[in-house]
Amino acid sequence: MGKKILVTGGLGYIGSHVVVELCAAGYEPVIVDNLSNARASVLERLERLTQQSLTHYDVDIRNRAALETVLERTPCAGLIHLAAFKAVGESVEAPLKYYDNNVAGSVTLFDVFERAGGGGIVFSSSAMVYGDVKVFPLHEGMPVQPNNPYGSTKAMMEQILADLVNAPGAKTLGLSLRYFNPAGAHDSALIGEDPKDRPNNLFPIVVQVAVGQRETLTIFGDDYDTPDGTGVRDYIHVVDLAQAHVMALRELLNGGFEQRFTALNLGTGTAYSVREVVSAFEREMGQPLPQTLGARRSGDVATLLADPRAAAQAIGWTAQRDLPDMVRDTWRWAGAARQWGLWDDDDSAAAP
Ligand code: NAD
Ligand code: UD1
Repeated sequence: MGKKILVTGGLGYIGSHVVVELCAAGYEPVIVDNLSNARASVLERLERLTQQSLTHYDVDIRNRAALETVLERTPCAGLIHLAAFKAVGESVEAPLKYYDNNVAGSVTLFDVFERAGGGGIVFSSSAMVYGDVKVFPLHEGMPVQPNNPYGSTKAMMEQILADLVNAPGAKTLGLSLRYFNPAGAHDSALIGEDPKDRPNNLFPIVVQVAVGQRETLTIFGDDYDTPDGTGVRDYIHVVDLAQAHVMALRELLNGGFEQRFTALNLGTGTAYSVREVVSAFEREMGQPLPQTLGARRSGDVATLLADPRAAAQAIGWTAQRDLPDMVRDTWRWAGAARQWGLWDDDDSAAAP
């Protein structure tokens, strides 16, 4: 068996894809997920996909005693920390819920991991840490200046991790991965984005319109300073993202970084507008997508685009998949999820 890696949030959208790639690379994932935003059936689908039995602890990362027990029972060489709340709007309404789960949870988790012997920590960060910047592409040397509570939790967690690993005698090394806009699904269609609440992101909303759960897509403004006036984003395939975690972890465990803490962007370096995403879905589905033009969404920026060169240099990673891949895999996953009744009103329907 390969090295054991603790994966918090390993039943969530991105975490489940990370688990698959860890298994493919010969690591043994140990999943901690309290199911606050995931279905238990993800575990069965992951076992089917990876053809192996997986360890899952239904534990909250704020529960110190339970985490200590997990690491005593299954000592782990690495930690990939994805568990967090992630809705920007909700974080403005309920900031303390976000600071408690994301920041307090990370402090407890990092402390338990370091006391258990340490190792490599790969942390899920976000392009949100750059805040409302108008210069593109974004690179890691730019200031961290988040402009909402969710983004602040990510910036704080990066700082906490950096301080931990730079403390005298620390046994842990840290790496923060700043995701741009994750999209797509595994091409097996066994796992994918499965929002519990009403989604806010473009891809899951387009899917809801396409399957008739929503009447129309509202395009949030077409008067931005972009080629077609709609918002432009650096969408990155979730499998590319997951593979980057494994490459980063390997490098970290091999001591391949000059610094004890490093932050890397994960994006493709190519950005697409809302209209380009919609057209790609229409091509995939072979039918038009109902859409209306609305006002700008508050807090939105015109463009988000990564400079991905640092990740290429540090871990040898570049994205391999493009927008048509993301759209095709999302659409295939949507078909499977509907077939299993995952998105029926009755939430109890289980996937095979
Ligand atoms: P997700 O909600 O699908 O996954 C998060 C998982 O963590 C869920 O399965 C949830 O049940 C679990 N979780 C949450 N709080 C927990 C706690 N206290 N204890 C144990 N488990 C807990 O979200 P995702 O899209 O997979 O995001 C994963 C990570 O990536 C998050 O840290 C998120 O902030 C970050 N991120 C996501 C995006 C995105 O667009 N999806 C973009 C940038 C960064
Ligand atoms: C959002 C989140 C951010 C998160 C990122 C990736 C907000 C304010 N920000 O940012 O925290 O890191 O997703 O998951 O929630 N759009 C429409 N109509 C819609 C939905 C979106 O036109 O119904 C447009 C948006 O204006 C934007 C683009 O689609 O131009 C992408 O939107 P979205 O998927 O929400 O991503 P971000 O805005 O980058």
